[in-house]
Amino acid sequence: MKFRFRQFPKTHYFYPVKPLLVSPGPVFSPSRRLYPPAWKPYGLEAEPEANIPTFQHSLRGVGPTGQRPIGVRPLSSYHTTFYIALYKSMSRIYTMNTSVNTSDKKLYIAMVGLPARGKSTIASKLKENLAKDGVKTRIFNNGDLRRKLTKEDTSSPGFYDPENKHGLAIREKIALTNIARAKDFFGKGGQVAILDATNVSLRRRARIVQLFTDQPLLFIECINEDKEILKASVEKKVTLSEFKHLAREAAIQSFGQRINYYSTIYTPLKDERNFLKLDSLYNKISKEEITDDIPYYDRIRDFLVTDTVKNLFLVRHGETYFNLQNRIGGDSPLTENGKMQAKALARFFRRKEIPFVFTSQKRRTIRTAVPIKKLQKNCTIIPLKEFNEIDSGVCECMSYEEIREQMPHVYLARKEDKYHYIYPKGEGYISMKERVDRGIKKAIYLSGNSRNIMIIGHRAANRMILSHFLFRRKEDVPYIYVPQDKFYHIVATQYKKLFQLKRYDNHPPV
Ligand code: F6P
Repeated sequence: MKFRFRQFPKTHYFYPVKPLLVSPGPVFSPSRRLYPPAWKPYGLEAEPEANIPTFQHSLRGVGPTGQRPIGVRPLSSYHTTFYIALYKSMSRIYTMNTSVNTSDKKLYIAMVGLPARGKSTIASKLKENLAKDGVKTRIFNNGDLRRKLTKEDTSSPGFYDPENKHGLAIREKIALTNIARAKDFFGKGGQVAILDATNVSLRRRARIVQLFTDQPLLFIECINEDKEILKASVEKKVTLSEFKHLAREAAIQSFGQRINYYSTIYTPLKDERNFLKLDSLYNKISKEEITDDIPYYDRIRDFLVTDTVKNLFLVRHGETYFNLQNRIGGDSPLTENGKMQAKALARFFRRKEIPFVFTSQKRRTIRTAVPIKKLQKNCTIIPLKEFNEIDSGVCECMSYEEIREQMPHVYLARKEDKYHYIYPKGEGYISMKERVDRGIKKAIYLSGNSRNIMIIGHRAANRMILSHFLFRRKEDVPYIYVPQDKFYHIVATQYKKLFQLKRYDNHPPV
């Protein structure tokens, strides 16, 4: 099937102010989507300079060749005077803005990384964060544009084979279109343009560098080699509509093959003027090279290394039979009261969109999640072993009284230093920290840029989650209040930190 770009309508020459005001340099006209002749080698529709209308043409209502497009009348003298006055005052404002408004700085960001490495999540969170400060940011995503503009099936792995000239040409054209649109965005007052694409080859990056010379350019490379996360990310990717003609397993295989093709041309960042290498699962910057003055850099850097959750609802599982007997560990089911608590939670969150509920692998947390999923339109339960309750080793399934009577040394030693105490053949708070932290990173990563997420955990596990977001002295962590009839609402962004213990109604349904 033939690849076709959408035809942009030929616009009439009736823009007396805009092209001159917002696009004073040698960039293309924002309204026309025709590019200066210099862009022609890159396959973009070029318009001879002579044909690009000027302010004078606009006033006369004609194009540069003197023709008058259908439906366009010359401006009356009244309109001419009006537009000249408007142009002058707008020019003044424009000049005033550039001289006093320091936030008018512009920055190109180009994401780099193999598919399913968290680039889009980082890009969209970054955009939201910058927007909070009034920084006009836009994302130019090659995948989205490909899906929009191409009629042929571009999901098959062969399309991404670097030897496939046809596929290569289409992807190149899409990349160039987004590059052009990013420039266009700056012409319209945009401040940060993010190119969200793999950009893994040296060739592609050279092209970006070559075309983005007007403003500083920062590359952000996302790296994540955690096999489990990668698997989960790919499973999420294949839910995209472009894979709907394939069975799940076939789609996973197809996406894996696509990644393999990209791997063959992948050259990690090394000699670029400005770049950051980011472990996108652990929010860690492993390499940083900044040569130029990069606007908004402090904010961007801090954002990249900060765990951000817009709304995390941290819930403890409903009441279990073990809870009634004061027994620890095990895999006890919910009591009738526990089931009612789960239903009440589900009703409480019914009107909030909860696309992801992360649980431990224990029955009590998963059973608490099931009624919640039932009342949601679109909700996935993801059990993570990292959120399992503290492993109490030789004391598993014992009650606190039994431990005190039968193992007084355990009882006393734990009482002495609860945070550092490790159950024989089990865990302690201190040794749980690493795995619970990893679980939080996984949950944040897998939930993408979701507005709301929920974690249903256990008493000790939830204490560790709480202490991840809110600093507590170690010795106090094992005593944090984690009730079963309330939940914690946590907001942790660069702009807001919120910690609230909230009730949900626990009445039988009427
Ligand atoms: O009693 C429920 C429970 O989740 C146990 O499974 C776990 O051992 C205990 O709470 C953790 O709380 P603490 O550290 O205070 O004993």
